[in-house]
Amino acid sequence: MDNKDIIETNKKYWNEHADLWFGTTALPEYGVYFPTEDDLHLFGDIRGKNMLEICCGSGHSLLYNAERGAGELWGIDLSQKQLNTAQALLKENGYSANLLCAKMEDELDVPKDYFDYVYSIYGIGWTTDLQGTLNKIASYLKKDGTFIFSWHHTLNYCIAWSCKDRRVVVDDNKLVMSKSYFDESYFKMPVHDSEIVLCNRKISTYINALAKAGFFVEQLIEASDDTALNSEGELDLKAQKAKMLPLSFCIKARKM
Ligand SMILES: C[S@@+](CC[C@H](N)C(=O)[O-])C[C@H]1O[C@@H](n2cnc3c(N)ncnc32)[C@H](O)[C@@H]1O
Repeated sequence: MDNKDIIETNKKYWNEHADLWFGTTALPEYGVYFPTEDDLHLFGDIRGKNMLEICCGSGHSLLYNAERGAGELWGIDLSQKQLNTAQALLKENGYSANLLCAKMEDELDVPKDYFDYVYSIYGIGWTTDLQGTLNKIASYLKKDGTFIFSWHHTLNYCIAWSCKDRRVVVDDNKLVMSKSYFDESYFKMPVHDSEIVLCNRKISTYINALAKAGFFVEQLIEASDDTALNSEGELDLKAQKAKMLPLSFCIKARKM
């Protein structure tokens, strides 16, 4: 599959299934069983700051920042369906944002050297051109501007519960390495009655691409939250996994 086909497949999925993800991966959450913005305080005081969200989805993170006094709000997403939802959500709550239907891989019609913050919650990993996307994000930020993003932790896709007859086996409480950490090739994943196409990039791939784009990495967070770490007894499978490895990671970087 070439990049164009990958993007079209993912766009189709999001336009047809956006409603199933209403507000599910949005601030203050960075990921499932992962510390939240209330724990991490990565953004700090955002009052009056210009903010751009990449892959803004249903608009819940934009709303979160609006309620904290952000200045201009901008959001981009591949899916017009998602943007319509975001616009309605913001309007319902008395806010508005500049929303653009675009691919993050493209040169966006947004001002350069303008934003105090660019951020993305479970969005950046969808890009088919990591280096190009990060270079562009750097160009939208002011000098010393902040870029924050979260995504699936690479190990989450590599490590699975033991599987017998295609059924997850948890009785022996064992996780197995089911995919190579070094494998960054694209794979199709069935979701609902459809499919998406993703790849699983190494953490070093993200860090090196950020450095090349002119970012200084201030924090890399690999963690699970207290709910997963401290709970005893019956836990769902994700929580059991989160006791042993981070399901997500989050990076805070500064444009130099
Ligand atoms: C997991 S959702 C993010 C949800 C968002 N954090 C929220 O608050 O709703 C991922 C989003 O990325 C968008 N997306 C996927 N590939 C994209 C691309 N190449 N360029 C721009 N947006 C993309 C999808 O349309 C979807 O809305």
